[in-house]
Amino acid sequence: MKPVILDVDTGIDDALAIAYALNSPELEILGLTTCFGNGPVEKTTRNTLVVLEQLGKSVPVYPGADKPLSRPPKKFPTHIHGEDGLGNRVAKSPVMEAESESAVDYIINQVKQRPNEITIIAVGPLTNLAHAVKKDPEIVSLVKEVVIMGGAVFIKGNVTPYSEANIFTDPHAAECVFSSGLPVTLVGLDVTMKTLLPNTILADWRATGREVSDFFADMTSFYMHAYETFHPGIGGCALHDPLAVGVVVDPSFIKKETWNVKVFLEGEEMGRTVAQAEGEPKIQVCTRVEADRFLNHFLNRLF
Ligand code: BDR
Ligand code: CA
Repeated sequence: MKPVILDVDTGIDDALAIAYALNSPELEILGLTTCFGNGPVEKTTRNTLVVLEQLGKSVPVYPGADKPLSRPPKKFPTHIHGEDGLGNRVAKSPVMEAESESAVDYIINQVKQRPNEITIIAVGPLTNLAHAVKKDPEIVSLVKEVVIMGGAVFIKGNVTPYSEANIFTDPHAAECVFSSGLPVTLVGLDVTMKTLLPNTILADWRATGREVSDFFADMTSFYMHAYETFHPGIGGCALHDPLAVGVVVDPSFIKKETWNVKVFLEGEEMGRTVAQAEGEPKIQVCTRVEADRFLNHFLNRLF
C-alpha cells in the first residue's frame, strides 16, 4: 500500500476523488488536508467531512490555507460547484470534526516521520504545499512523489484562455512548488479533459437505491449541467481530480514527458503553465491517457 496525503478543496470532483481513493486498496490514505479553492476553507473542510460521512469512512481532516500566497483572492466558482461547493446537496452539518493540527504542520510532520515513503496527491490550489516547503525546506528531499491536478501545458485553460483553475487560484504557490525540487507529476487539462464521465451513468448510480449513490448522483448532475453550459453537447463532465488519484493507483493509465514548466505570475496570462525548452526539465507532465481503461477502473471502485 502507498501511504498518501490527499490535499483537497472539496468541490464535486474532489468528492469523487476522495471516494475513489478511499476505495482503492493500493492506497493507504493517512489524512486529508484542505485548502480554499472551490469555496472558502471552512466550507471545503466541512464538505470533506460530509463526504467522509456519506462514504462511512473515518479519516483525519486537517484544515489548511484560507487565501493565496500573493494574488488577491478570486471569486469562488459557485456556478460550477454550487453555493455549498457540493452541488447544493449539503443538507446538514457533519458530526465528525476536523483536527486541530494545521494542514501545513501535518504535511511536514508526516513526511519527516516517514522519509521517502509519502505520496502527496494535491487536487486544489497548491497553497498548503507551498507553505510547507517554505516553512521546512528539508521536506523537499523526503517526499516520495507529488501528483498534482493542475495546469494546462499544451492546451488552453478552463478559467481563462491560458490558465487552469487550481494554478490560476494561486499561481505563486504553483511556481514555488514547481521550482522547489519536489518530484512533481502534473495531471493537467491535457489529460483530464479526455477522461469524461458520461451523464448516462447517473441513472445506474440512482438505481442502486443507496443513499450514498443518490448523494453522488445529485452532486455530479449539478457539475454536469455546468459542463454543458461551457461545452454544449459534451454529455458529461471531466474527471479532473479522480485522474490524479488514478495516476497513483495505476501509473500505466498515463504517459509522461519531462519538462521545465514555468508559471506565469501576472497579467492576462497569469496562471499559465508553459513547457520550456531551456532550463532543467524536472516536472513530469502527463501527455496521454488511456481514458476508457481509467474510466472503467474508476467506476468499479467508486462506491
Ligand atoms: C480543478 O479545478 C477545480 O474546480 C476542480 O476541483 C479541479 O481540481 C479543475 O480545473
Ligand atoms: Ca479540486
